[in-house]
Amino acid sequence: MSSWTRSRYTGQAEFDDERRAIFEKSWMCVGHSSALPKTGSFLRAEVGGESVLIVRGKNGNLRAMLNLCRHRGALLCVDERGELGKSIRCEYHGWTYDLDGRLVGAPYINDLPRELKEDRDLYSAAVDIWNGFVWVNLDVHAAPLTDQLDPLVHARFEGVDVLSRYSLADLQVVHTISYDVGANWKMVYENFCECYHCPSMHPELCATVPQFRSGYGTVGGPVAEGAHLADGATGFSLSGQSTAAPLPGLPDDEDPMFYGLLLWPSVSLNLTSDHALCMRIEPRSPGRTRVVADWLYHPDAIADPAFDPTDAVKLFDITNRQDWEAIERVQLGAKSARFEQVYSPHEHLVGSFHQWVDDALHRTATASSEGSAK
Ligand code: FES
Ligand SMILES: [Fe+2]
Repeated sequence: MSSWTRSRYTGQAEFDDERRAIFEKSWMCVGHSSALPKTGSFLRAEVGGESVLIVRGKNGNLRAMLNLCRHRGALLCVDERGELGKSIRCEYHGWTYDLDGRLVGAPYINDLPRELKEDRDLYSAAVDIWNGFVWVNLDVHAAPLTDQLDPLVHARFEGVDVLSRYSLADLQVVHTISYDVGANWKMVYENFCECYHCPSMHPELCATVPQFRSGYGTVGGPVAEGAHLADGATGFSLSGQSTAAPLPGLPDDEDPMFYGLLLWPSVSLNLTSDHALCMRIEPRSPGRTRVVADWLYHPDAIADPAFDPTDAVKLFDITNRQDWEAIERVQLGAKSARFEQVYSPHEHLVGSFHQWVDDALHRTATASSEGSAK
């Protein structure tokens, strides 16, 4: 596996190429459908270079549209999430769209020339749901979401249906933390790909999942089937104690396990016996990445008056901050003219990730050169 040059992590031109080839052409996870409980609920997400609204419409279906008023280009919503009611109204001059993004009204609309009112609906994006998670693609002609995800899931679990046991579609987000990380998105993702750093960076994580002291996590093998928790631990938390009953699809007497699943380019999904943790990334600039972590539990657990996920949130929040500190140092290292990287066998999955990125860039470069040759 060859090392990328430092410009791959610092260059604006390289970042722009990735935005066009990857983030504006891939399905990107924007959250969990439980965050959109009713008609008019919305989420706002940054996808590629666009601000996108995901809205639950009147028929209960989800719609994704650019968060861009078709009058003079104001952002329609600046909140991260909320309720729109029956329509989307731009605060600037009051142009109003229905929940499907159709322009339905504007002040003094009868004074507007017909051509100004035509074709002024919000731009749409593709949206789909996978195991309860909401995914958006700016390319409305993109291949189906499952084309992107199924090969990754199959490669990870080798055809065994691990996911359905975690009833991900039924879970609800109980806690969210957004991190502003001073590193290129690929450094964030490379860090997800390996556990070689776990023994030195993550004492708390290794105390709960001792296998990680070997430098091998569950995504990079060799224990592809998952990792056992420490002796006596009952849950994936700072104390090692469970924070809820086991998820309903798991047998009560099953040894609690931890599984990681990478769904590049945007998600690291962690499955534990009593909750799930979804980490998704939004690349912001060559040296900045927003990472959003959602902790998800089953509604039966949440309904318990004694429910408290703090112990579980603490473990991965501590772990995340340790990771960001480490990769921000690598980003600083990328200022050096002598910057290069070598990878141990523990880090073999970084090579698979690099290959995926390079293939995506190559596909787009080939398509655009074929297009310009016509
Ligand atoms: S910019 Fe939205 S109504 Fe004018
Ligand atoms: Fe880590």
